[in-house]
Amino acid sequence: MKIVMLGAPGAGKGTQAKRIAAQFGIPHISTGDIFRANIKNGTELGKKAKSFMDQGLLVPDELTVDLVIDRLGQDDCKKGYILDGFPRTIPQAEALDKALAGKGEKMDYAVDVDVPDENIISRMSGRRACTGCGATYHIVYNPSQKGDNCQVCGEALILRDDDKPETVQKRLSVYHEQTQPLIEYYQGKGILKTVDGTKNMDEVFEEILGILK
Ligand code: AP5
Repeated sequence: MKIVMLGAPGAGKGTQAKRIAAQFGIPHISTGDIFRANIKNGTELGKKAKSFMDQGLLVPDELTVDLVIDRLGQDDCKKGYILDGFPRTIPQAEALDKALAGKGEKMDYAVDVDVPDENIISRMSGRRACTGCGATYHIVYNPSQKGDNCQVCGEALILRDDDKPETVQKRLSVYHEQTQPLIEYYQGKGILKTVDGTKNMDEVFEEILGILK
C-alpha cells in the first residue's frame, strides 16, 4: 500500500503517519525528518535545507525530489510506504507519479488531514520534538511521561526552530500557495480521502483506518 499524507503544517500528518506505518508494517518516510537528520549531522544537504526551513520556506525541488525517489527504491519500500511531507508542490507530485509509472506502479491513497489555520498555531506552539529519536509530543494533547525528556529515548525535548509563531505563519501561507493545490491534483486522480483532523488523535487514526481497510 502506498499512501501520501497531505495537510497543513501541524495538522497531525507525522503523528498519524507513524501509527499507520506501525499498523501496516510499512516505512514512514518524512522529508522533514530526513532534512532534520542531515542538519543534525552537519551534511551539505542539511546546511542548504536549514537556510530554507528556518525561514518557513520549502527546500527547492531539485534538492528534494531525487532524495525521495532514491529512498523509494530501497528494499523496505517493496511492500509500500507512507509519505509524510512529500510531495509538497505540483512538480514534486508529477515527478513522483512519473517515477512510479516507470515501474508500472501508482499511488493508492492521498489522505488529507484537514485542520483550519486557527487550530494550527496552538498545536505548533505546544509541540515538543525529541533531539534524539525525533518522537513528537504536545504539552497538552500528548505530553511525555518523562516531562521535558523523551519517554522513548530519554533525550531532551525542544521547540523546533520553525515552530515559532512568526515562522508558522509563513509556513501556513507557503502551504496554501504551493501545497494545497495537491488536494485538487489527487482529487483528479480519484484517490483523495479527507479526514477531520480536529478530532482527537485516536479518532483521527480510526477514521484513517476505516478508509485504508
Ligand atoms: P515537516 O517536518 O514535514 O513539517 P510540516 O509539514 O510543516 O509538518 P509538521 O511536521 O510541522 O506537522 P505534522 O502535520 O506532521 O504534525 P504533527 O503530527 O507533528 O517539514 C519541515 C520543513 O522541511 C518544511 O517547512 C520545509 O522547509 C522542509 N520540507 C519538508 N518536506 C519538504 C518537501 N517535500 N519539499 C520542500 N521542503 C520540504 O502534529 C503537530 C502537533 O499537534 C504535535 O505536537 C502533535 O502532538 C499534536 N497533534 C497531532 N494530532 C493532534 C490531534 N488530533 N489533536 C491534538 N493535537 C494533535
